Amino acid sequence: MGVMRFHEKFNRTGWSILLTVLIGLVAVHRASAHAYLLHSEPAANAILDTAPETMRLWFSEIISSEFSGAMLLDADGQSLDITVTVDPNDHTLLVVNLPELPDGVYSLRWAAHSEADGHSTQGLIVFGIGEGADLGTATAVATDTAVSWPEVVLRWFTYTLILGLVGMVAVTTLVLKPANFSDNVAAVLRAAQKRILRIAWRLSLASLLVGVIWVGWQAYALASSVSGNISLLATAWQWLSQTRLGLFWWARQMVLLVLAASLWPGERQMERETAVSPTQRIFLFVLLLTLLVVQSLTSHAAALTSQTTLAVTMNTLHLVAAGLWVGGLLALVVGLLPLVRQKDDFTALVQAGWGPFGRLAAFSVVLVLATGIYSTGREVGSADAMISTFYGQTLMVKIGLMLTVGLFGALNSSILHPRLSAPLAHLLHKLQGWTPISARRLPRLIVAEVIVGLLVLLLAGLVTAAPTARGVAIAANRNAPSSLSQRVDDMVIGLSVNPNQAGQNIFTVRAASTRRPTPAKVLRIILRFTYLGQDLGMASVDAAEIEPDLYLIGGSQLNVAGNWQIDVVVRRQGLEDSIASFEWTVPETGPQQPVIISNRPWEPLLTALAMVLLLLLGGTAVISIIKAKNSHL
Ligand code: HEM
Repeated sequence: MGVMRFHEKFNRTGWSILLTVLIGLVAVHRASAHAYLLHSEPAANAILDTAPETMRLWFSEIISSEFSGAMLLDADGQSLDITVTVDPNDHTLLVVNLPELPDGVYSLRWAAHSEADGHSTQGLIVFGIGEGADLGTATAVATDTAVSWPEVVLRWFTYTLILGLVGMVAVTTLVLKPANFSDNVAAVLRAAQKRILRIAWRLSLASLLVGVIWVGWQAYALASSVSGNISLLATAWQWLSQTRLGLFWWARQMVLLVLAASLWPGERQMERETAVSPTQRIFLFVLLLTLLVVQSLTSHAAALTSQTTLAVTMNTLHLVAAGLWVGGLLALVVGLLPLVRQKDDFTALVQAGWGPFGRLAAFSVVLVLATGIYSTGREVGSADAMISTFYGQTLMVKIGLMLTVGLFGALNSSILHPRLSAPLAHLLHKLQGWTPISARRLPRLIVAEVIVGLLVLLLAGLVTAAPTARGVAIAANRNAPSSLSQRVDDMVIGLSVNPNQAGQNIFTVRAASTRRPTPAKVLRIILRFTYLGQDLGMASVDAAEIEPDLYLIGGSQLNVAGNWQIDVVVRRQGLEDSIASFEWTVPETGPQQPVIISNRPWEPLLTALAMVLLLLLGGTAVISIIKAKNSHL
């Protein structure tokens, strides 16, 4: 079967595989990020009168039952027999069945593996039994909360390879246009296209390999974080076959295989006039987009509980823009620069490559900025969180480096397009055609631009491996009211919460009808609790009547500080439920964080800014397309 027929045959098969992958991806869309411990019973540092039979640990989202676990040590460091399970009805709850425990001090080291992005979190809960228990004698157990560098480096390779792939295909198909130039320039551009495609093929193979190493890393990290002697191979297979991320891994590897086959530099492909046929170009773009969607579905963006699809879309656009810009620069530096460096018509050749890239780069810079601003608003709670957390600080360094890439880009453009330096030349009384930097320095500047771009990707690896700064340094209103009332139908419904702190509270409900005689008997008062900061599901309890119109219940439903919705449902005989919905704030306890710049949630502001930038970008793109069309008429 000739190479051409193989390619056509392959394209058809490729399309159908792609379709299946896409459907599969939509099906497994829901995901999440680092699993934080919200609260436990018994609570950390509790001194109990009697020994508990079980411990319960609630996490901020679904944890995997295969790779989450715990270890219990007594004050002498002896490990005690326990059984650990994830509650089948609530996959955010880890249940630890304890042996009979004599009075004393105990340390429980827990490890939770997020079902969504494969990050593991660890922690320690110390508690005592009996009056004389001295928590200071508890066995200290190291818990590893640091960002793991092997993961950061693997993420860096992943981003460099897949964004490099995006840049290679974009430059070959959208930037290098041999047909628009004289023969010698056209010949060099054609050679550059084929060279870049060969590199792209190697990048796709290298991505496949990094994917395999990633599984090895995941298996090693998991095997070492949870107790139990499962072999690395068994852990790897369990991860690949039983976790959401395993499923995404298969999808990613499949897309990469199809990509590698499509980019395979068969001899006929190399002899062809145009490096990539129009259908193949579309096919490659769809494959690359699928790859970026898969990547985004395992990122922090997929963890967000509200507007998840928008966050995942923005993350994907961010990757597209980063691929076009930094990946495109990489393609030009490794694909075209070596072919033109020694050439006499160096400047003309660079013009032919970097000239058309300028427009694409400008478009991608604005897109990467807009989508980056949006993601910052979703992943970082406030300006104070940006400067006071590891995540925020890393992001600031990344933005600083990104601006440096932009500066290099502007310098290079000023050399390539002297008209851009004209206003400066005029200001400085320089001759026409003057540029701030001599053209001889262009190759070094171009390489510097790419190196800083690769450093941005390293920072992206660090940011995505770190716990986010969502919900950090957010001004949870410390003077939040602890009692509110509402009028619903003919009912006046009042709610008060005491002491209104995260953890154990007493809820008092007063529900009285304004009509006399009252229209119907109250059968039940149900309280429903929904945390607005994260998807913790909804908890509901019945309050008990203690006197006419007055109802009471105690419990730890409000287990984290922040914003909640509490619905008080008054169920009466023969009438529709009367529901009072209260926006409720549980203030933070403990020392108040000093405000540095602002601890007000900045998400709405950054989202608005990002949308304005995107609208401007969209508008400019439409105008320039119309202009281009008119100029061809
Ligand atoms: C050269 C410019 C840039 C490049 C190459 C770049 C690259 C990346 C990459 C590869 C990711 C990982 C996405 C994922 O895992 O799915 C990412 C995420 C992110 N980027 Fe950028 N970025 C750039 C500029 C920016 C800018 C200017 C901002 C902020 C204004 C920004 C904010 C973010 C945020 C908040 C995330 C999400 C991280 C997470 O998942 O936790 N980026 N970026």
